[in-house]
Parts: sequence; structure tokens; C-alpha cells
Amino acid sequence: MEKTKPQESQSGTGLMNWIDARFPATETIEYHASKYYAPKNVNFWYYFGWLSMIVLIMQLLSGLWLTMNYVPSGAGAFASVEYIMRDVEYGWLIRYLHSTGASFFFIVVYAHMYRALAYGSYRGPRELLWLIGMAIFIALMAEGFLGYLLPWGNMSYWGAQVIVSLFGAIPVIGPDLMEWIRGDFLMSETTLNRFFALHVIALPLVLVMLVFVHIVALHHVGSNNPDGIEIKKNKDENGVPLDGIAFHPYITIHDIHATVVFLFIFCAVVFFAPEMGGYFLEKPNFEMADPLKTPDHIAPVWYYTPFYAMLRAATYPFLGLPAKFWGFVVMVGAIVIPAVLPWLDRSPVKSIRYKGRLSKAMLTMFVISFFILGYLGTQAPSKAGTIAAQICTAIYFAYFVLMPWYTRVEQTKPEPERVTG
Ligand code: HEM
Repeated sequence: MEKTKPQESQSGTGLMNWIDARFPATETIEYHASKYYAPKNVNFWYYFGWLSMIVLIMQLLSGLWLTMNYVPSGAGAFASVEYIMRDVEYGWLIRYLHSTGASFFFIVVYAHMYRALAYGSYRGPRELLWLIGMAIFIALMAEGFLGYLLPWGNMSYWGAQVIVSLFGAIPVIGPDLMEWIRGDFLMSETTLNRFFALHVIALPLVLVMLVFVHIVALHHVGSNNPDGIEIKKNKDENGVPLDGIAFHPYITIHDIHATVVFLFIFCAVVFFAPEMGGYFLEKPNFEMADPLKTPDHIAPVWYYTPFYAMLRAATYPFLGLPAKFWGFVVMVGAIVIPAVLPWLDRSPVKSIRYKGRLSKAMLTMFVISFFILGYLGTQAPSKAGTIAAQICTAIYFAYFVLMPWYTRVEQTKPEPERVTG
């Protein structure tokens, strides 16, 4: 077969031409950076996608270094974490970067998701981008859950025990499923080994691949903005959006600024409050896992507590199935329901700026309930707490379930033709 010589392009340096003839380097850089036009009115809330990426990289690197000294065995796990903290040079720093990074990952991702709710970024043509985001969110939750078992502290052990045992409430297959997940009759070294494998290899790979397709999808449809209008509708004679600015250097500078401020806050926590009063590193986890000693009050880390509170809010058996089963359904439902948002929102406008009073009230109540649920999930169960959690769970779901109604009946403001400021 005749071999064809790669096409040399005429622009750029000699080396770049050589590469471009064999790999679309310039084309990719232009498409994703120098000629990617982002809206000029992006604000504070648009920092968090970039920051999520920074935290992802930090987690991958700190995780890699932790793995060099961590021992995934029943006898070795807890001791190896102690060894990392006390004897490995800068081991304490690597570990605190990783444990604080987990909490900050959720802070930035929750802020990133809130922005999408506020500005209607989940709406067409960004439905797939949103669904990929949802897949990232679920993968991230799984990644955090698996990682939490690894220090083999007493809360690691009992927290995982509680969550895995929820699967036991599923009718018919529940008990077998629970045993299949654990790989044993109770939480054991076998469970630790498989959680380790999933935490260090499988889920990080899935996350990196999902983030890659997230960005590809974003750059295909273009970024939304606080006005929720499409900048691609107004272009100049060269096809450049009139309200767009080139990603590089304008957005890169904007994001570097955010990164520096973020790292200041992040380092302050790492150096001065890595346990964050027991919210980032829980007190029972300073003791080794003990199957015979249940902590007084089992609670997951703060970023799961809104969902944990919803799980505990289900207190009645129904249709012959136990309350525990319904709690599980409510919790899983609460995690996945945002996926259908693009098909629930019937408003003629995207951004909360132009939506009516009902949408504003529902979004505000949704956010407040989420915070209250987060708090309730950290507390020991009480009668008043359960009632409060039930009310907040109802508001949480009402935000989604009533959306097709309230976004249609309310009075909206007209959207501007061009982005505002
Ligand atoms: C590892 C986690 C994630 C990373 C690294 C990431 C990265 C990014 C980046 C860099 C952007 C563009 C900059 C920006 O708009 O802030 C973006 C946009 C977006 N992301 Fe994410 N993301 C993550 C998770 C999520 C999640 C969990 C969701 C939703 C469930 C989501 C939904 C969106 C949406 C809808 C946009 C477009 C926003 C707009 O244009 O207004 N992302 N993401």
C-alpha cells in the first residue's frame, strides 16, 4: 500500500508545523482555549468549575503519594496512616491535603451545581453536559465513601457498615447484595481491599474520563452566563460572539486569580484547622476500627449529611416494606432527581434573574432546607429533628416535583437581547 506523507501546515513554527501535520495540536489549543469564546459577563459563580478541576488534580497527586506508604490490610491500614502522620517526611501535610481536599471538593462542586440551578445552565442545549455533571457527582460521592473506609478508623468502619447495610433493606436480593458488596459476612479486610482498589484506580479513572467529556460537551455547546442567554446568537462578521471573550488570556487570568485566593483559604484550613472541629476528620476515626465498639453516634462526613438526614426522615413502614427501605429510596431519589431538571423547567427564561417570584422562593427554600438537612444529619436523632428533616425533605423534593407547575404559571421578566455587564 502506498504511504502518504502527513500534510505540513504553513502557519506556526517549524516544530509546531511538524506536530500539527501528525496531531491536531494547534487546532485543539485554539478550539479549547485561544479561540474558545466565553461570555464576558461570567461572575464569581463561574470560578467553581475551574476550582473543581484544581481540587481533582490535588486529590490525584496527594492520593498517589499517600498510596506510597499506605497499607491496605486489616492489621496495617490504621497503623500505616499513623506512620504517614508521624514518621513519613511531610506525610502529615500530604494526608491533610487529601482529607481537607475531599471536603473542599464537595464545597466547590456544590457551589458549581448551585450556579447551574440559579442560571438554568442545565437547560437546552446543555442537557447532556448536565447529565455528565450528574454522573461526576455520583462518582464523586462513591469515591469519597470508598476512601473514607481506608484509614480503618472506628467511624470508617461503622459508617461503611451503616451504608452497606442499607442495601440489605432491598426486598429479595438485599442480603445477598450486601454480602456481595462486602465480599464477606461482615466488614472485613476483604472489603477494605476492594474499596482500596476501587478508590485508587477505578473511580479516579472514571472521574478523569467524565471530566474530560464534561469539558468537551461544554466547549461544543458553549458556556451559559448569569443572564441565561445564548451569546452565539449575536456574532460579528468573523463568527466571533459579540459578547464573548477569548478563554485565553482573559478567563485564564480570571481563574488564576480565583486559584490564588482559593489556595490561601485551603492552606489556612490545612495548616490551622484540618479536623475542622470534627467535621472534616471525625473524632471516632482517631481510634482503630473495632467491630465490638459502635460509636455513640454514627454520622457520615458533612458532605453526605443532607442525604443522610433524608434517609433517617423516613420513619414509617409502607406497602409492607420497612422504613429503612423507604429511607434508602428517598436518599437515592434525592441524589438522582436533579438529573431530570432539564425536563422539569418549563420557564420561557433560563436565569433566576428573569424568573418569577415562585422560582426565586423555591430556590431559596431549597437551599435553606439543604443546609438544615446537612446540619440535622450531623446530629443524633431526636423527635424534633426528625420532624424538621421530614419538612425539609418535602421542600427538597417539592423544588423538583412542582417545577413544571411553578415555572409555567409565574410572571417572568423579559430577557435582554445582549448580556448585561
Ligand atoms: C470534578 C467535578 C467537576 C469539574 C472538574 C467540572 C468542571 C467544569 C468546568 C471547568 C466548567 C466551565 C467553567 C464553569 O462554568 O464553572 C464546567 C461547567 C459546567 N458544569 Fe461542571 N465540573 C464538575 C462537576 C459538575 C457537576 C457535579 C455538575 C452538575 C451536576 C456540573 C455541571 C456543569 C454545568 C451545567 C456547566 C455549564 C455551566 C454554564 O455554562 O453556566 N459540573 N464544569
